[in-house]
Amino acid sequence: MNSTTLQINTDQLKFPLGDLYGIFFEDINHAADGGLYAELVRNRSFEFDSIDHKGYHALTAWHFTPQGDASIEIRKESPVSLKNPHYAVISLKEGNFCLANEGYHKGMYITKGSTYYASFYGAATPFSDTPFNKVTLSLETVDGAILASSEIVLSNQWKNYEVTLTVAATSDKVFLCLKSDLPGSYSFDFVSLFPTDTYKGRRNGLRKDLATAIEELKPKFMRFPGGCLIHDGNLDQDARDSLYRWKNTIGPLEDRPARAGNWGYNQTLGLGYFEYFLFCEDIGAKPIPVLPAAYNPHAHEAVPIEELGEWIEDALDLIEFANGDFTTTWGKIRANLGHPEPFHMEYLAIGNEELGAPFMERYPYFHNAIREKYPEIKLISSSGPFADGYDFDLMWEEAEKAGADLVDEHYYMAPDWMLKHTKRYDAYKRDGAKVFLGEYASLDNKYKNALYEAAYMTGIERNADKVSLACYAPLLCNKDYVNWKPDMIWYNHKKMMKSINYHVQKMFLTNQGTDAVESILSTETPNQVIPVANIAGRIGFASENPSVVVSKVSINGITLDTDVTITYNKTTKKLASDSLLATIEPLEETKKSAVLYPAVFEDSFKVCFDFIKTKGKGQFKFIFGLQDGRYYQWELGGWANDMSHLGRCDITTVGKKSIKKYGGINVGRELIIEEHVPYHAEVTVTGHHIRAVLNGELYHDFEEIDTVIPALYQVVSKDDDAVYAKIVNVRTTEQPLTVTLSGSETYKHVEITTLQTDDLAAMNTFLRPNAVAPSTKLETVSNNSYEITILPTSVHVLKFVK
Ligand code: AHR
Repeated sequence: MNSTTLQINTDQLKFPLGDLYGIFFEDINHAADGGLYAELVRNRSFEFDSIDHKGYHALTAWHFTPQGDASIEIRKESPVSLKNPHYAVISLKEGNFCLANEGYHKGMYITKGSTYYASFYGAATPFSDTPFNKVTLSLETVDGAILASSEIVLSNQWKNYEVTLTVAATSDKVFLCLKSDLPGSYSFDFVSLFPTDTYKGRRNGLRKDLATAIEELKPKFMRFPGGCLIHDGNLDQDARDSLYRWKNTIGPLEDRPARAGNWGYNQTLGLGYFEYFLFCEDIGAKPIPVLPAAYNPHAHEAVPIEELGEWIEDALDLIEFANGDFTTTWGKIRANLGHPEPFHMEYLAIGNEELGAPFMERYPYFHNAIREKYPEIKLISSSGPFADGYDFDLMWEEAEKAGADLVDEHYYMAPDWMLKHTKRYDAYKRDGAKVFLGEYASLDNKYKNALYEAAYMTGIERNADKVSLACYAPLLCNKDYVNWKPDMIWYNHKKMMKSINYHVQKMFLTNQGTDAVESILSTETPNQVIPVANIAGRIGFASENPSVVVSKVSINGITLDTDVTITYNKTTKKLASDSLLATIEPLEETKKSAVLYPAVFEDSFKVCFDFIKTKGKGQFKFIFGLQDGRYYQWELGGWANDMSHLGRCDITTVGKKSIKKYGGINVGRELIIEEHVPYHAEVTVTGHHIRAVLNGELYHDFEEIDTVIPALYQVVSKDDDAVYAKIVNVRTTEQPLTVTLSGSETYKHVEITTLQTDDLAAMNTFLRPNAVAPSTKLETVSNNSYEITILPTSVHVLKFVK
């Protein structure tokens, strides 16, 4: 007899699901250039610069091979566009030259029979009596095989040339070459190669495999273009490393100023706001742009309040660009770009992950101006980078005070956190602003992470009356340019690989439905409780740069009689300490060294200490509960010396490598540690309860909780066509289940999509891209009832159709 039942009353609608599931696109990990943006030439306009990335220069990715008397230089005196002033000039006196671009991967991937648009700006002045100069534009393998080529006669003025090339063979080691043997001076700029077969066949288009994989997620919205990308930079719009200003990203490609993105590489901005809007339209996702709030929280630089006008204007103009008709200034610009119809933008985010007074002061100016002119736009404010804690609460409070419609939450957490907090949103008050979960992920692409994310998503969907929007992050990663892991879709120049997390997202996104439906799980299977372990282990201090003098260390009331000076030595990457009592040990797990007190403290202890930072940026940490596999830390002046952060780091050892992952706890509060100022800190641990007090003020009060695992996690929704039951079993035992559908409708079939493996460490890889992937089967339903065995460690979607 099956004792577990899921009763679904298909007439009992709870609330509409709206735009719940979407995606977040950020140009991180070469997600745009070298990723979704289908341009194959890297550094096409010779604009790479060491500001973008240490080691970049104007000829990065280019190879100049002269034979005879030929030289190359980069000039900027008469450019194609003043916005991208650099161009290459080759002087050939005798012999020949080849200027070749390697693309993003030391060779482009080109396939037999496909066609490519190859183009460049060129100009040439002959040195001899020849009336003209011509170049050969070719696609050649590293071994010299010519796969396609075309001859082009150049005029002596800048002109854009384009040819369509059809390729004779497949190779992943192809260079785009510009060659000549006619003496003369040759200028080149904006050298470009695009497949003709882009997503939807668009010019200046998107890579088809990646765009299609994104389209297949059927996201209801797309948040773009970042992330830290939008607010980490210079306040001066014309600076190369400026904050992300949308107006720089539209119009002719030549006039979009190449930008130093904060992720350490150059952005051509070829994938700009117009293209983002088009892509949203193509995949049926509502656009959610994120604009900077005239504040760079990474550098603590803010535009003075009296100069906010231009930034607010940017926001108002963006709405007009997206939604205005062509009688409006910006609507007309959009129409002239080829899209007379509006893009129907409904949401706008001001800021990404900001916290603190400069943001709280500025946000209302944006909000009020936009609200007044465009009351229909839903405005999104920020709750900062923490999952909980003092600043998280404060930012929520301020956002609601300012009247934000949604508050953007971001957190990247350990898988066990995901499981512990599936009820997070059950506890949120129902009135006030809605939640936009704009970035979340557990910390890996392993099956366990994807499975626990699925369990967590049942909690999101169950609370979609409060959580209006949710998207995993980041979306894309070029495996040769990793800034951030995990990511949903991985690729190189040849292939794409969908992570298991992608499959979970797809199972939820493509089976959203329009309304949440009442569902009751009844079971005799008791909850499984994993009690939280008490915090026990060693204590110590560590520094990631600053020199700190720690004194008056008292442990459980007994004061040590020696001060500790902690100096992080950049050369040896070790700490030095003059302490006799403390031992300096390499903290193997962290690859950093720490000053550790030898004794182990069990369960309850209190440590007090004074400290003075004498010099240097970076974090000073108090470490506690250090034992095999984990430690806790209180960072004082963490990140860019702007926060107090309480965290837990879990360490796993794979072979000789130890992998550390933060994310067990993520609570923070703004804090700048001043140099030469004495501070007094106290940490009290009682079981699994941590209280951290600085200068008499309680900074963190955090209690780890037990993990309570029900027999199954489940959530149900429906639309006119189907009922969708998402069922997640994180246990290692199977669970027989009877699903009954009551209500006025009869369902005859059920399409069952299953994701399952027993191996929680399994991952999809480029060699085994489908190691774990969902399978689907169709079954008959009788009397609105269906029996199924829910497999151990599995995600199921049961789609009941009439
Ligand atoms: O998603 C990666 C980064 O994480 C985003 O840029 C930022 O918002 C967050 O800190």
